Amino acid sequence: MKKMTSNDSFQSVLKRALASPSRRTVLRGGLGLGLLGLMPEALKSTFATPVTASAVTSGGTVAVDVPLGFQAVGKSLLDNVQLPDGYRYTILHATGDPLKSGVSAYSNAGAEADDWTGRVGDHHDGMELFYIDAKGRYSEAQTDRAVLCVNHESSADAHFLHPRGQTSAGVTGKKFNQFGQWDIGDRPQVEVVKEMNLHGVSIVELVRDGHAWKYRVDAPLNRRITPESPMLFGGPAAHLPQINALMKTAFDPSGRSSRGTLNNCGHGKTPWGTYLTCEENWSRYFQISADSAAIGPKQVAGLKRYGVASQPLNKDLKKAFSQGWHTVSAQDNRFARWNLAYLQAEPEGDFRQEANTFGFNVEVDPLEPSSVSVKRTAMGRFAHEAAVCGKPVAGEPLAFYMGCDSVNEYIYKFVSEATWDPSDVGGGIRAGDKYLNEGRLYAARFNDDGTGDWLELTFQDPKIRGFEAYRFANQADVLVHARFAASAVGATPMDRPEWGAVNHRNGDVYFALTNNSAANRTPAKVNAANPRAYNDLDGRKRSGNPHGHIVRFRDQAARASANTFGWDIFLFGAEEDDPRSNLSGLTAVNSFSSPDGLWFSRATGICWIQTDDGAMTDESNCMMLAAIPGALGDGGKMTVANSMQVSGALQEGQQETFIGATLGEARLRRFLVAPKGAEVTGVTESADGKTLFVNIQHPGEKTPALGSSGQYAFESAWPGNQGYGQPGRPRSATIVIQREDGGLIGL
Ligand code: FEO
Ligand code: CA
Ligand code: CA
Repeated sequence: MKKMTSNDSFQSVLKRALASPSRRTVLRGGLGLGLLGLMPEALKSTFATPVTASAVTSGGTVAVDVPLGFQAVGKSLLDNVQLPDGYRYTILHATGDPLKSGVSAYSNAGAEADDWTGRVGDHHDGMELFYIDAKGRYSEAQTDRAVLCVNHESSADAHFLHPRGQTSAGVTGKKFNQFGQWDIGDRPQVEVVKEMNLHGVSIVELVRDGHAWKYRVDAPLNRRITPESPMLFGGPAAHLPQINALMKTAFDPSGRSSRGTLNNCGHGKTPWGTYLTCEENWSRYFQISADSAAIGPKQVAGLKRYGVASQPLNKDLKKAFSQGWHTVSAQDNRFARWNLAYLQAEPEGDFRQEANTFGFNVEVDPLEPSSVSVKRTAMGRFAHEAAVCGKPVAGEPLAFYMGCDSVNEYIYKFVSEATWDPSDVGGGIRAGDKYLNEGRLYAARFNDDGTGDWLELTFQDPKIRGFEAYRFANQADVLVHARFAASAVGATPMDRPEWGAVNHRNGDVYFALTNNSAANRTPAKVNAANPRAYNDLDGRKRSGNPHGHIVRFRDQAARASANTFGWDIFLFGAEEDDPRSNLSGLTAVNSFSSPDGLWFSRATGICWIQTDDGAMTDESNCMMLAAIPGALGDGGKMTVANSMQVSGALQEGQQETFIGATLGEARLRRFLVAPKGAEVTGVTESADGKTLFVNIQHPGEKTPALGSSGQYAFESAWPGNQGYGQPGRPRSATIVIQREDGGLIGL
């Protein structure tokens, strides 16, 4: 679409928009949506850069406008991965595959009796590839040997891992999943050990054989990080003793170490070559078994804000999502640790503080099996979704951008104290100690005028020191309860920040805001960066911001240390046939809902968008799209007209915002559709741009609990239905996508 200028009248904009097929759908609805204003010139000149996408040719990188080079994939409800013509996929590994010889082949029937530490985990999620050079060291350049780190997020479908689903003795109370929410009853140890150890990270060695990448059973670098792996806490030297005090448990009364990582969702790759695995919905695994008279209002506030499971005798706390792991044994700390009850006089006598030990970015050195992973407390504790590093500049600090995925939570930035020294590449955990322990933590405020402010989270700030909803004790408390601190300084509540990604070409940072609910996003509760609130009247009817959007920002002068930024909205998710919500000119070949995973290819410049959708799944399974992005400020100002039924009454309102240039079908296309019930999450690529790795998570998610028939009615049979492993139950998997002609993916 032609760029608008500030001299355009609304009539001329409207006339041109009506002539543009990609805009016609939006305006034809006539329900008050449209381009009513224009981006200020000052903002454009500050932030705009030319729109380019690049293709890598044999001669190197060429900066030219390149349309996507594949035919878009249609919506699909089929139980297989759909790809464009000329593309194929293989499966690298799936839930339960052995990493070591001596571990039985996966039965896919729940027959495993081992502890799962020699197997690939479940619920594949964020991932990254690390090349290894001939001397066994980390290499930024492509080689024929690599490790692939894959996060394993959740045990929400753990019933597939047992012969007859999750079981529990003495289930009473209200049902939430297969077992009662409150009185979970005693769970069998064999089930719980499997459920625990399916989480964490799989580190799997790959070799390239011609075009093909394959994993090797028994390769020296194969290993699993699980909820039982030893971890250390790293953090700012001045505050680490107070941080350790908040981490004291019966496992380590000094609070300097803890066990494991949990609910590993998004990820990050550091410039020195380590992996950051992000702990997201870790709060759901705990319960409090008995009344805890010693628990005070401050602790209750902390548990509630972080969604940590509750106990039946405290009416202040909400219901649990607990898997009942603590019910196996009160004597065995592997299980007792999931019980947050105050059972002894001091915190180091029980596990009341165990939940404090989760909610971090965890640094893992994939090339050093003997290294101990470190929880980076300076980057804050929340529901971490991706930790994406901005473009490293020698001599400048590093910036890591991070989302907290819950309704109305925030986007954060960590800025290192140390400045980047490229000689630290390959430096492992010690380099992490240098860059990730000392620094400043900020939360983002998106202003209505297209600018933004990074608000530092420091105990020195009177707004934090005097915050009434949570009385901070010190800076350690600020880091461990960063959500409260971000509220105190006035950060902008967002529509569930999921993954972030950096456009390596220009430093623009993108964040997926997956969706928000009617209770939290009404026409009266919008802001410029989260401007939509409406009723989706088609198919799966949701309200609020059911299809989500992708926000884009750039720090002032692209400096990591900047306190201000400019922003616009890159794309609004929508069903193409709903003019009320289709603000980005989507059509049948690129409509999508609920963006989640985001990742930029260095080879092609493509922005890959993955969905975890529940609002458009009547029309299509979840999907992955390729976008050739422009740059911040390449679009204009928009007024969004909102109308929504709220508590039986029509609520209306308008919200001005900024939107990027319409991409159209040449620059935004559906590339992949997943099997039934799966979310698409996690994507990385070989450096030559010719092999794409994608994770398919929880196919068959809507399979009902096992009934009296004793037979599951599986929603999906993938990947067994494609001849991979034993047929029957659905499994999460990493797939490897290549072009049949061996060419670049996407172009
Ligand atoms: Fe694990 Fe927020 O997705
Ligand atoms: Ca719908
Ligand atoms: Ca529709």
